[in-house]
Amino acid sequence: MLPDVLQCPRCERGALRHEPAGYICTRCSAGYPVIGGMPWLFHDPQGAAGEWRARLALLLGELHGDAVATRAALAAPDLQAATRERLARVADALEDHGRRLTTLLAPLQVHAGDADRDALRALRTRLPVSQALTTYYVNIHRDWAWGDAENRATLDLLDSAAGESLAGARVLVLGAGAGRLAHDLHLRHAPALTVATDLNPMLLSVAREMYAGRALELYEFPLAPRGAREHAILRTLRAPAAADERLQIVAADAMRAPFRPGAFDVVVTPWFIDIVEEPFPRLAAHINSLVAPGGRWLNVGSVAFGFMNMQRALQYGLDEVLAIVRDAGFSPPEVREAVLPYMQSPASRHARLESTVAWSTRKLADVPRPASRGLPDWFVDPNRPVPLHTDLQAHARATRIHAFVMSLIDGRRNLNDIARVLVEQRLMKPEDALPAVRTFMLKMQEDATRRTNL
Ligand SMILES: C[S@@+](CC[C@H](N)C(=O)[O-])C[C@H]1O[C@@H](n2cnc3c(N)ncnc32)[C@H](O)[C@@H]1O
Repeated sequence: MLPDVLQCPRCERGALRHEPAGYICTRCSAGYPVIGGMPWLFHDPQGAAGEWRARLALLLGELHGDAVATRAALAAPDLQAATRERLARVADALEDHGRRLTTLLAPLQVHAGDADRDALRALRTRLPVSQALTTYYVNIHRDWAWGDAENRATLDLLDSAAGESLAGARVLVLGAGAGRLAHDLHLRHAPALTVATDLNPMLLSVAREMYAGRALELYEFPLAPRGAREHAILRTLRAPAAADERLQIVAADAMRAPFRPGAFDVVVTPWFIDIVEEPFPRLAAHINSLVAPGGRWLNVGSVAFGFMNMQRALQYGLDEVLAIVRDAGFSPPEVREAVLPYMQSPASRHARLESTVAWSTRKLADVPRPASRGLPDWFVDPNRPVPLHTDLQAHARATRIHAFVMSLIDGRRNLNDIARVLVEQRLMKPEDALPAVRTFMLKMQEDATRRTNL
């Protein structure tokens, strides 16, 4: 059933054949593994697995470091008994959380202490930096632990815009996250096929467990805990009902979606269009290519485009968004708006209300599929030299200076000493050196203690 809608994300032409070990392109022979029971259909599957592995290794290191620091705080004199109890509980929870994530993501084959954290941190990753392993961790608990109210509100708003049932349709949910909306749609409408796709393996692994009807225990760390016991809560996640085999999970990048053109009668984008690192006109054209002639695009979520904060032209308002949808070959969208509860954890004093927009629109015409952001030759073929263009040269020099200044910190030199070395090395003028070193050192001290977004 799934192979019927799949297409090779590398050559973007060939069909994918299901083999015992994974999927194979019938045209270019590219192979794709199944990881943790999920077709792993990234354009560069090994690269994507390596990046998520690195992120998980970093996260496990951070959790361990946090637990150690929290336990060390217990040594302070004069702690209230309640503070002591809270710190001990949180430290235990952080360690246990690391173990649980390691188990959940075991198919990625990462173990605490596996990698050099500093090297991983320095080399970072190629996946969008805004899409960290835990960026949407809280969604997991909203989806599967806090009860139905919030989830039902989103589903009802989407349904009110959709108007008609999805029964018998082939449905694709892009950016499905931990998978609740895809599950709810599947249960309510009985489509012929629902594919929940996302690039985050942690969220998809939770979805996999839920769809299979298994219970899963994971910690919630509320933003504003109501009381000491709510700083870390071990929650049991469970779907209201297991899903049938027509609800499938695919790990993939929506912008290199491994699906053949027009494979779906309905594409759903829940809380997705304004967080994906892609200008909305490109995303809309891409969605057009996935929808069958006469099929529909259903959207629900915010219209915020906040992460595009360096590019104001891309921070579209709703009117602009609707015009872009029409330009992308769709009918004028049927829009519904409602203020919905959003991330209202019962354990947190912090909760949001979101003015949420849903629309339904029908595909009227094909528009050209935007060209994929191709990977450079030297990336694909590791035997090719990495080109050294002027910007990179300048960046390399800046990085070397950065490393040199950091190497001057030996626990003995003061700011004047460090500034003097920079002047002697002709890296800075005497009048500039001390102010620059002062600001730089402060920033480095802050960076060293800041938790990275993993
Ligand atoms: C705001 S969350 C919404 C998740 C889910 N739809 C929900 O309502 O809880 C956005 C989701 O998009 C996913 N995502 C971001 N960029 C993506 C991309 N290029 N391809 C696929 N998924 C992506 C994230 O991993 C995340 O799960």
